[in-house]
Amino acid sequence: MSEARRYMSGFGNECATEAVTGALPEGQNAPQRHALGLYTEQMSGSPFTAPRTTNRRTWTYRIRPSVTHKPYRATEEKLVRSGPFTEVPTTPNQLRWNPLPMAEAPTDFVDGMVTLAGNGDPAMQTGVAVHLYAANRSMVDRFFYNADGEMLIVPQAGRLECATELGVMDVAPGEICVIPRGIKFRVALPEGSARGYLCENYGQPFRLPDLGPIGANGLANPRDFLTPVAAYEDRDGAFRITSKFMGNLWEAEIDHSPLDVVCWHGNYAPYKYDLARFNCINTVSFDHPDPSIYTVLSAPSTVAGTANCDFVIFPPRWMVAEHTFRPPWFHRNLMNECMGLIFGAYDAKAEGFVPGGMSLHNCMAGHGPDAETFERATAAELKPQYLDNTLAFMFETQLVLRPTKWAMETRILQHEYFECWQGLKKRFTAPDAAGQ
Ligand SMILES: [Fe+2]
Repeated sequence: MSEARRYMSGFGNECATEAVTGALPEGQNAPQRHALGLYTEQMSGSPFTAPRTTNRRTWTYRIRPSVTHKPYRATEEKLVRSGPFTEVPTTPNQLRWNPLPMAEAPTDFVDGMVTLAGNGDPAMQTGVAVHLYAANRSMVDRFFYNADGEMLIVPQAGRLECATELGVMDVAPGEICVIPRGIKFRVALPEGSARGYLCENYGQPFRLPDLGPIGANGLANPRDFLTPVAAYEDRDGAFRITSKFMGNLWEAEIDHSPLDVVCWHGNYAPYKYDLARFNCINTVSFDHPDPSIYTVLSAPSTVAGTANCDFVIFPPRWMVAEHTFRPPWFHRNLMNECMGLIFGAYDAKAEGFVPGGMSLHNCMAGHGPDAETFERATAAELKPQYLDNTLAFMFETQLVLRPTKWAMETRILQHEYFECWQGLKKRFTAPDAAGQ
């Protein structure tokens, strides 16, 4: 059992928190000497000169400064990949994968990551990578940070205890967490194993979408985002830090825990969010709003309205649209859609898309309900219906998601995916042919 966690509420707020009473300097950031002998270190997640609305920085007061480690050395290449994602040609086909098998050999969160697809390039600070993870060991004497991007973690099975420099978060399936670029953390598995999805965002950080005519409330409300209070370790030993930097994994020895921040204040911090708190907005008359209505978080690009990545969910909700085909209609998009399923069933697919699985529909690839779902939905009696036991999500991104070599060769790729649409037969009858 882990202890009950304490969190601060709000999105992107200036927070102040101390694990030792009186440790946080009053009235200034960097006193000449800290009363408890802590080192002062600022961590900036945006350019110093970013506008106030997007400026992110945190002042940390720590037992040792972050620079105290041995040199990093490149590690053996495993299955983590980074932009520009040119290992194999990118197919225009619709793709779907079964869940990543649970790990058998001892595997921690970092070793359990495998890259499914990605776009852009961390060197250009644009694009994303989509990773899966399956792990069966807690990280104990190992820490990780990602200089290439922030990490949006979507657990599908097994709770995660994410101990970060700025505090500890318990994250269960149905919740998400975001660990900003550069923040060191360690993942423990209180249930012994875990599996899920990861979006590594090379670009500007995720933020809450604007609400426009929806008004001041709705979708993901800021108060439901939780940032951990300060918690530190004063622990010496033979530890290692793994760094993801410019697409490669590097490792350095360190003789103490880097999770040694006794107190901090600022607005650059990890956070978690319970997807059950999402306030769905949808039609109460007919037809569908576009799925952007389900956006939880949006990481913008430099083009207005064009996200480097949107994180979108399809949670339990009422369906009440009249004289309407209620599942998602057939569509083709400029944007690129990678979908996962946390639990239950997704209303556009009768089978094949299972919890832990993933589908990818890239730029202009036709997709939509399978033949069985089409038949059911066109014949259904349209009473108000509560869509229960379902939680799907989508990473939607402006650039084509290019699958890795592993993704195209793995046994979990469903080569028969295309067949789910082959039963959609011609139904058209011209008026003349019908004798009208
Ligand atoms: Fe779609």
